[in-house]
Amino acid sequence: MKKVVLAYSGGLDTSCAVKWLQEEFGLEVICFSAFIGEVSDKTKLRKRAEAAGTKKIYIEDLKEEFARDFILPALWAHARYEGKYPLATALGRPLIAKHLVETAQREKAQYVAHGCTGKGNDQVRIEVGVRTLDPHLKIIAPLRQWEFKTRDEEIDYAKRNKIPVDATKASPYSIDKNIWGIAIEAGILENPWVEPPEAAYVMTRAISKVSAKPKYIEIDFEKGIPVKLNGVRKGLVELIDSLNTIAGAYGVGRFDQIENRLVGIKSREVYEAPAADVLLKAHEELEGLVMDREFLHYKKVLSEKYAELVYFGLWFSPLKEALDSFFASNQFRVTGKLRFKLDKGHAICVGRQSKHSLYSEKLATYSKGDTFDRSSSEGFVKLWGLPYEGLKRRS
Ligand code: ARG
Repeated sequence: MKKVVLAYSGGLDTSCAVKWLQEEFGLEVICFSAFIGEVSDKTKLRKRAEAAGTKKIYIEDLKEEFARDFILPALWAHARYEGKYPLATALGRPLIAKHLVETAQREKAQYVAHGCTGKGNDQVRIEVGVRTLDPHLKIIAPLRQWEFKTRDEEIDYAKRNKIPVDATKASPYSIDKNIWGIAIEAGILENPWVEPPEAAYVMTRAISKVSAKPKYIEIDFEKGIPVKLNGVRKGLVELIDSLNTIAGAYGVGRFDQIENRLVGIKSREVYEAPAADVLLKAHEELEGLVMDREFLHYKKVLSEKYAELVYFGLWFSPLKEALDSFFASNQFRVTGKLRFKLDKGHAICVGRQSKHSLYSEKLATYSKGDTFDRSSSEGFVKLWGLPYEGLKRRS
């Protein structure tokens, strides 16, 4: 019997997909689930998959790998799609693609399958990832193919086939969560004029409910890696988890944006990414202190390109990998400490220090002790302006 490895989330779609893949293609279905957000109940997930008809399920906690190999490079790249979205979902997909391929190879499966819709970016990210890593694998996307038009039809199919349907009321939104943030879409959010209801938010507290007293936090970086939070050394996953809680309690890291999807449509997306927002700002601030002007200005162009490549599903592409090397090249200087004030939805950098700092108080000061040589300025300004002299008169 030919085999398929299905990226299984435990939800209705992928549970129905187990049965559907068996019926339509006559395949043996092996499930693969990755934990990159909350670690949910493994036994429950296994039971659901088995009830849906699978004999074998791999459940892996991949938070460490996600943080080290996907979040960290994106942090170094200062990656935010269209200036806002820190790419949590987009970063999770290539990781899933990689593990689908590895599991398929281990199981000698000819097929992989996923539960992404035909309208989003995630199908692109998973499929392009899989094809880059193993072009021999065939890909099935049940949600693009099956005949269910509505959720009710799908629920009927599940009931007919004794697939457990979650008794808890389904969220009115489509949600994807991992430690780098959460994406909330659909439902009432599809009207771009409507303010997202407070109940739509998961990781952040409403500004009206946050403490009136600001909170100060300190983050230490060593060679580009955030290693301490408030003086306490933590692994990357733990640090991100704690920062999500601390900054989330101050309503930090909410984004409401109209976004250009790869498949051509604009969509309204609501994101929460408290830790990502603070860490991206912190890393940018620290680089701002230790790197020179040319580097910093040029990097901005590359960061935008990088975010686009990640968003567009080109994680395993040569340009993205080359940019990773570029962003990694100066991290040995990115050691230091940042002080942030969390205040009613804002994370504001209020202090920075580093042994590699290029900031010189003696040069910058307008007070006593100034060592800046003003006499050089006259000649400098003259030559800097030379190409422009008389330009207006002659045109
Ligand atoms: N629009 C975002 C992206 O393409 C989020 C997708 C989230 N997926 C979901 N099932 N809610 O990265």
